[in-house]
Amino acid sequence: MRARIAGTGSYVPERVLTNADLERMVATSDEWIVERTGIRERRIAAPGEACSDLGAKAAERALEAADLRATDLDLILVATCTGDVPLPSTACLLQDRLGAGHVAACDISAACCGFVYALSVGDAYVKTGLRHVLVVGAEVMSSMTDWTDRSTCVLFGDGAGAVVLSATDEDRGILSSHLHSDGNLWDLICVQGGGSRFPTSEKMLAEGLQYLKMKGNETFKVAVKTLEEAAREALTAHSLSVEDLDLYVPHQANVRIIKAVASRLGLPMEKVVLNMDRYGNTSAASIPLALDEAVRAGRVRDGDLVMIEAFGGGLTWASALIRW
Ligand code: ACO
Repeated sequence: MRARIAGTGSYVPERVLTNADLERMVATSDEWIVERTGIRERRIAAPGEACSDLGAKAAERALEAADLRATDLDLILVATCTGDVPLPSTACLLQDRLGAGHVAACDISAACCGFVYALSVGDAYVKTGLRHVLVVGAEVMSSMTDWTDRSTCVLFGDGAGAVVLSATDEDRGILSSHLHSDGNLWDLICVQGGGSRFPTSEKMLAEGLQYLKMKGNETFKVAVKTLEEAAREALTAHSLSVEDLDLYVPHQANVRIIKAVASRLGLPMEKVVLNMDRYGNTSAASIPLALDEAVRAGRVRDGDLVMIEAFGGGLTWASALIRW
């Protein structure tokens, strides 16, 4: 059996935060942000709107597209690093919201790679007998953003995307996933406080350890290298070449990273899905959000070869090939 994507869905909060808005908050400019990142605006969750709220809306749309009910699901996986609460998992909250019965539910933590990791876990479960697995990527990155730090606050946004994986005996679906990590580089992208190392305290808050910190320039270089490697690894595993790819859906962190990877691979930009201009970097939500937009825009046809690929905190990097 293979796992095929039977339906996709996404949701973004209503509030739009533009580069012009950020110009009024920190020393930055629309010109700098667009030129260095490709981002023009991002969505920000309303006060009280949490990760599972976004994820549930994306999941409902994916279930509708798959023509399934929540009670048909055998497993719910949520990729996130900004869950509603530290405990329980956001997946359990989502399970309740969807009315999915007593189905198994858990979160997957791999930062911006979370969705590709979760998809591969779902794929493995389908291959060993489950019929329908919901995989959600949902993030409220604004909840860990330091709005006084111009080097990070211009980059991130909130959103959610979801897919339903269904078992099929047809020769299509997820062909393979290729997952990697290098914990030695954990401090390139991290939130240091609020866990067991530096539990929440007045001192920790005063030091701003609750916020995401990133060494952007170093991350950039590792990202280009690892994304190229993971893309080639996936293609080589199936004796395929870059020319065989119909669509490339990368993590939407920075248009310059994506252009550099496409150029190294020899992949024309017409085959690349880009939406970071409207949403910024939504971490684990970025790939399912971009994939859903591509599907709904008619950019993915039956039989197409689709590659998804991400890198992020951990560090982690991962690719997957899908025959649509
Ligand atoms: N507005 C204006 N100037 C700025 C801003 C800003 N918002 N931010 C930084 N600058 C300045 C810097 O201070 C620096 O000034 P200096 O030369 O006087 O010191 C200058 O711009 C250049 O800074 P760099 O950091 O070298 O800029 P760079 O071209 O590398 O772009 C960026 C920064 C956009 C962060 C880029 O490095 C990047 O995209 N990195 C990868 C990020 C990423 O993809 N992370 C992984 C996913 S995140 C996750 O997993 C949760």
